[in-house]
Amino acid sequence: MLDVGCGNGGKLAELIGDGATAYVGVDVSGNFLSAPPPGLEFIRGDLNELASMPGLAGRTFDRILFLQPFGYAKDPVRTMQTARAMLADDGFILLTKTQPIRYAVERAEHNETSLGEEYFSTARFSYLSGWSDQVTLTKRPYTISDLINVFSAAGLRIETAIEPQLSEDADAVTRINRPG
Ligand SMILES: C[S@@+](CC[C@H](N)C(=O)[O-])C[C@H]1O[C@@H](n2cnc3c(N)ncnc32)[C@H](O)[C@@H]1O
Repeated sequence: MLDVGCGNGGKLAELIGDGATAYVGVDVSGNFLSAPPPGLEFIRGDLNELASMPGLAGRTFDRILFLQPFGYAKDPVRTMQTARAMLADDGFILLTKTQPIRYAVERAEHNETSLGEEYFSTARFSYLSGWSDQVTLTKRPYTISDLINVFSAAGLRIETAIEPQLSEDADAVTRINRPG
């Protein structure tokens, strides 16, 4: 199992023992768990350079995870093509990404524009990271069609797509606020 943009590797560490024989986490930050469990290996590296990353050469994986780092891909199709080439037969990629409507709503409120304008804008946007006021994140916007087209151009087939769901608590609040 390969976890691209794994952060400190904590999520991967939780999966240890679930049947895989080797777990590899890649992240550009290099802030990894100091005592990873046996079988878990970390590589400090850029997801834009997966094809030439020492430690990954010649390896294939049954599962490749992209849990929220995909917005940092400079050439998204190339990144997905590289990941596809590293998949074992019957392997699959699991990719999670913030629903683009969320960023569009935030930008529309901030810029006093409309949701439609922001959702379909192609301009890169920046915002202060949630963890440090010294770090500004810059991302390219995606629509859902953009994402589907990236996967398609990389020769991938989408098996399942899941939209964010309200938690039970949030759902109950919504129903209370909108009785009937
Ligand atoms: C939102 S965090 C998600 C971390 C982890 N996957 C999780 O779900 O908890 C995004 C991660 O992407 C990493 N990242 C950002 N740019 C990257 C790049 N060019 N190459 C590899 N990792 C990158 C960041 O360091 C960060 O750990």
